[in-house]
Amino acid sequence: MTEKVALVTGAARGIGLATTQLFIEQGWRVAMVDRDGEELHKAATGLNPVSAFVHDVSIPDQVDDMVHAVRTTFGRIDAVVNNAGVADFGPIEDTDFARWRAVMATNLDGVFLVSQATIPALRESRGAFVNIASISGLRASTLRVAYGTSKAAVIHLTKQQAAELGEYGIRANCVCPGPVRTKLAMAVHSPEIIAAYHDAIPLNRYGTEREIAEVITFLCSEKASYVTGQVIASDGGFESTGVGLPALRS
Ligand SMILES: NC(=O)c1ccc[n+]([C@@H]2O[C@H](COP(=O)([O-])OP(=O)(O)OC[C@H]3O[C@@H](n4cnc5c(N)ncnc54)[C@H](O)[C@@H]3O)[C@@H](O)[C@H]2O)c1
Repeated sequence: MTEKVALVTGAARGIGLATTQLFIEQGWRVAMVDRDGEELHKAATGLNPVSAFVHDVSIPDQVDDMVHAVRTTFGRIDAVVNNAGVADFGPIEDTDFARWRAVMATNLDGVFLVSQATIPALRESRGAFVNIASISGLRASTLRVAYGTSKAAVIHLTKQQAAELGEYGIRANCVCPGPVRTKLAMAVHSPEIIAAYHDAIPLNRYGTEREIAEVITFLCSEKASYVTGQVIASDGGFESTGVGLPALRS
């Protein structure tokens, strides 16, 4: 078994948990990070080799403590998957500063903080960042002023990381998932939004957690050793397409 270690944030469920499971299948050890301790310990039970770290990625002191604990436990970090995220959909006029800040705190500040704190470990391993943005960061839509803007910023942050950290052998890439039926998405996807996604996606369906995890683990692997600064939409073709799909369907 390889000694490689992945740190996955938001690992208690959804895309983060599927990514953890796939890393284990591929012979990695995983540091599972989530602020929801109950859900995290439930998810980690029976998974091996993993360790659970209950920390909030939006709080600088907790991030420093978390990275210290992960390095003490595992001795190294080879890949960091910045996956923890929150969604809060609402019109611009109803998005007060508290709602805006809550989304930015996890989705943007969290990626910045965890990445910065893990640079020394990734310098040692010549490792990789994979940041999870969203198709909402590539294409604007209604109700996503905070969420979509936070994810667009993650896309640019990834390019900054690739530009600055390449000299240390660190790669940084971004995955933009299309809709996946996780707790996060189902809390904000109304029946109208679900129908609109089906209409706008060439593959005419939601993705699965596993399909997103496959792209994430590829980008963390040696197979992607010359890939950095890239933004990969795993979205059934949503980002590439314009109007007209429903008219073609029989
Ligand atoms: N599901 C989708 O349709 C979809 C689409 C595009 C992008 N994404 C992105 O994928 C990522 C994973 O989403 P998901 O759908 O699996 O969501 P999810 O809600 O199922 O899982 C997110 C996990 O992140 C944890 N988390 C949230 N804030 C945190 C914080 N500050 N510190 C530590 N942990 C925190 C939650 O406790 C939860 O376990 C998110 O960044 C999300 O924005 C999801």
